[in-house]
Amino acid sequence: MNERRGKPSSSARESISIVRASLLNPIAPGRIEFLKDGALAIRGGTIAGVGEYRRIVRAHPRAKTVDLSDRLLIPGFVDTHVHLPQYPVAGLHGKELLDWLNSFIYPAERNFTPAVAARLAPVFFARLLSCGVTTAAVYCSVQKESTRVAFRAAERSGIRAMIGKAMMDRNVPAFLRETTERSLRDSEELCREWNDADRGRLMYAFTPRYAASCSAELMREAARMARASGAHLQTHLAENRAEVEWVRKLFPKAGSYTQVYENAGMLTQKTVLAHCIYLGARERALIARNSCGVAHCPTSNLFLQSGMMPLREMLDSGLRIGLGSDVAGGPTLDPFATMRAAVYVATARALAPGSRARARMIDVGTAFFLATLGGATALGLERVTGNFAPGKDADFVVINPAMFDSGREAYPVGDRPDMILSRLVFLGSERAVEQTYVRGRRCYPALGQRGYRRG
Ligand code: GUN
Ligand code: ZN
Repeated sequence: MNERRGKPSSSARESISIVRASLLNPIAPGRIEFLKDGALAIRGGTIAGVGEYRRIVRAHPRAKTVDLSDRLLIPGFVDTHVHLPQYPVAGLHGKELLDWLNSFIYPAERNFTPAVAARLAPVFFARLLSCGVTTAAVYCSVQKESTRVAFRAAERSGIRAMIGKAMMDRNVPAFLRETTERSLRDSEELCREWNDADRGRLMYAFTPRYAASCSAELMREAARMARASGAHLQTHLAENRAEVEWVRKLFPKAGSYTQVYENAGMLTQKTVLAHCIYLGARERALIARNSCGVAHCPTSNLFLQSGMMPLREMLDSGLRIGLGSDVAGGPTLDPFATMRAAVYVATARALAPGSRARARMIDVGTAFFLATLGGATALGLERVTGNFAPGKDADFVVINPAMFDSGREAYPVGDRPDMILSRLVFLGSERAVEQTYVRGRRCYPALGQRGYRRG
């Protein structure tokens, strides 16, 4: 048993705090509850109650209230797919996936030494938290020690994260290529050290990068280790046409890209598949049958000119879908930008010639759901985080709506719940994120202990 797993810190005797604010609480795609005068009751990092402020106060008359009445409380965002070592090369536009990997990404990952990781990882996690992200599924590169450094930084930052060392034993430059055995041994060691650390706040994700960079044996063994340890597994799937064609040539007998992963035993309910743009109906059904999570990365898909995932159809097939920044495939960690891109991409698909038009669009409530509870569900964490419900961890963000970029000071234009949600998605940004809490602990601005305060 890893000593980092520690003892539970919450107990029935711990005092309750009430945070009073307006609440937006995602329930289902497009179904978001709004409480104008709402409250969260929090005990030992866990949500003890959620509802109208008056009801919560009646239930906990001795609790201390922090009054954030003019603020908006939302569940922490979930970034279901992001690459830590790529953060310094974010924003370099103009290439498609395979060329981009060779030109920018592999050289950047080569630089991901433990010393670089020690500088970069604290900044990366701090930035996720300042954007309101409380849970992230993170790829490192192949280096074991650098991944360890990343885990330590995540541990200190307070963020909830699943992290994995990328696995690749072929078709990548020699400076990143691993032997199959080494890749498996290093991954297993990291999993043993970190999976379920701090009572599950930190998780290990076996990370066979994508089918083109992995032998069948590497994928099969990674899947076996993930199952044996109860850890997660993350990879890329069907992101780019040239990539799909390459994988078809590398695995001519498999029948489809998704079948390559199925043959390796990689498709389970603890698997997160990023992109999923170019899938046939059978592949989609295979993913649904195995209850895998899907990371939809709309900023990345436009930035790398990859394509447009059929979000509406995939939601209608019952897939568990969340949003991912895919930095540096996407240029920014900002989940507001990712939500907007999800709406815009669905709209662009709907407007394309020959499309069944409006049916394929998504509304702001769906984008907000995907960025929160949808993401938690895609990562298999829906019982822990993603929205406000008694028993879940108190992962939330304090939003200052006055920071939404518009001229509303000039004259009143109304504050209906649908307007508040729409402004949150389309005018929200890191600027509007005032505080971020994970398990009731304030992580942004960094404080390092439990407590609530204004601004
Ligand atoms: N496919 C394989 N590796 C990567 C990566 O680092 N980023 C993206 N977007 N796609 C990939
Ligand atoms: Zn990626």
